[in-house]
This record gives sequence, C-alpha cells and structure tokens, in this order.
Amino acid sequence: MPTSTRIRKAVFPVAGFGTRFLPATKAQPKEMLPVVDKPLIQYAVEEAYAAGIRDMIFVTGRNKRAIEDHYDTAYELESQLEASGKDALLHIARSVAPDDMTCSYVRQPRMLGLGHAVLCAEHLVGDQPFAVLLADDLMVGPPGGEGVLAQMVRNYNNLGGSVLAVQEVPLEQVKRYGIVAGDPMGDGITKVSAMVEKPSPEKAPSRLGVAGRYILTPGVFDEIRNQPKGAGGEIQLTDGIASLMKKESVYAYAYKGIRYDCGAKEGFLQATVELALAHPEVGGSFREYLKTLKL
Ligand code: UTP
Repeated sequence: MPTSTRIRKAVFPVAGFGTRFLPATKAQPKEMLPVVDKPLIQYAVEEAYAAGIRDMIFVTGRNKRAIEDHYDTAYELESQLEASGKDALLHIARSVAPDDMTCSYVRQPRMLGLGHAVLCAEHLVGDQPFAVLLADDLMVGPPGGEGVLAQMVRNYNNLGGSVLAVQEVPLEQVKRYGIVAGDPMGDGITKVSAMVEKPSPEKAPSRLGVAGRYILTPGVFDEIRNQPKGAGGEIQLTDGIASLMKKESVYAYAYKGIRYDCGAKEGFLQATVELALAHPEVGGSFREYLKTLKL
C-alpha cells in the first residue's frame, strides 16, 4: 500500500466539448459558464485550494483559451479598476489566482476519454498522489463545514489509498454513473471490491454512484495506459481505477454536501437558483422575486 503523502496537485480535465450545452459551448468552454457570478472552473479550483492544494493542472483542448486567461493577470482591467479606485472589484479580479497558487496547462490533442485526459497530466503530476476534479460537478460542502475535496484529503491521509467521492443515487439513475460496491468500514467509507460503469438497475451492485472528485495514487497512470479502448473508443478512468483496485486498496467515501450536475441543463439551473438564494449580494432580493412567480 502506498504511504500517505500530502496531496499537492490537482488535475482538472477540461478538454470536453460540452455538447449538452450547445450552442453556449460552441466557442467558449463549458467550464467558463457562470453560476451567479463565478465560472464553474473557479468553484472547483477554490475547492482544491481550500483543501490545501496549490498546484493546479488543467488538461485543455481547442477553444479553452478563456480558462488560461481567467487565471492570468488582466492588466488593462486591473489598471482601470485601480485608477478609478474600485478596490473591491480589483480585489475580486486579483483573488481569482492567489499568489501562492501555480497553474500549468497541458493539451489533450484528441478527445480520447477521461482516462486519457488524466494520463496527459502524468508528467506534471509525477510520482505522487493527486486529486482529480471535474468542474462540471459543482460541489457545495455542508454549511460552515469542510469542502468536499478537503473531506477527501482528510480521508486519504487516514487511509493511504485512492479515494473516490460517492453519493447514493436513485435506482433509476444508476445507469448514468460509475457504481461501486464493497465492504462498509464506517464513517461513510467503503472498501471498494467492484466497480461497474453505467449499469442497468438490475445489474447495479449498489446505489453508490461516483461523483466528479477523486484522490488517486500514481499507480493509476500505468493502469490507464494499459487499458484497451472502451465504449466509443474512449479510454475510461473507471477502467483504470478498476484495474488499480486489483493491486492497491481503493476506497469510496460518501461525502457530506450537495452535488450539482452542471454538465446537464437541469443541474446547472438548480445550482444557479440555489447559489443565487445563498448569495450575500443578491440572495434576499432574488428570494423576493421568486415569491412573485406564479408556479
Ligand atoms: P463529459 O462527457 O461529462 O463532458 O466528461 P463533455 O464531453 O465536455 O460534455 P458533453 O457530454 O459533450 O455535454 C466529463 C469531464 O471529463 C472531461 C470533460 O471536459 C468533463 O469535464 N473530458 C472528457 C476530457 O477532458 N477529455 C475527454 O476526452 C473526455
């Protein structure tokens, strides 16, 4: 079993086409779609930062320049805000990329699947455990509590093996998820012994669906590399983790918090309404507005 090491790096696979959001994603990345006033990618990066991670690695593709620009200095904007004394806005613009955070970018030249996207980051990750965050899953931790990735890092530090975020999903939805099953160990942890990608309800070994947060040991890279292409010619991350499981312990962790599936329109709308209601600036007036709707 690998020894527990601090998680220093996070990989954000953002090379997908986001076809479920066309035409919005025709010329701009899905990860830059805003929920209230922040793009999806920023929620995920802030979650990683709050978990103590400072090295952010983005696996990008064509049409993803806006993500690099978002994490770069915006000289014209900043000097304009500075000159007009708009300090609060200047702070908002600057705090997107804190000084102690580094961003690296690697291209996935062809969309060969999530497993392949993670493999594209191997040389930047090196031989150490790392986090993977899918920014289209927007995760909100419990009120006043730890973010979801911070919970996972804590569990990784206790367990010393890969940790997958899971949630119980309704039986009719298991076919949308990677489903895991195994031995419950208490405190929301399951030692995974089976992993099935998108099973039918009759074949699902449990209702524990994998959400878009992972802590993986570097052994996963070899396993992904050795995978034959799966469905649709794609190299699946799930298949790589299922192989890793035969050599190392892999754990599922039922996180505390809410997941919004912002890769789909309905989840995106739910996130928008709920985060708007919780927003310090617009929450109150938005609530009053919603009350006026005849639903
Ligand atoms: P999805 O399949 O949910 O995202 O992949 P998508 O392909 O962008 O969206 P649709 O289905 O066409 O609407 C899950 C995550 O994996 C990344 C995507 O960017 C997304 O964050 N991904 C997927 C890659 O980076 N590369 C791939 O080859 C596949």
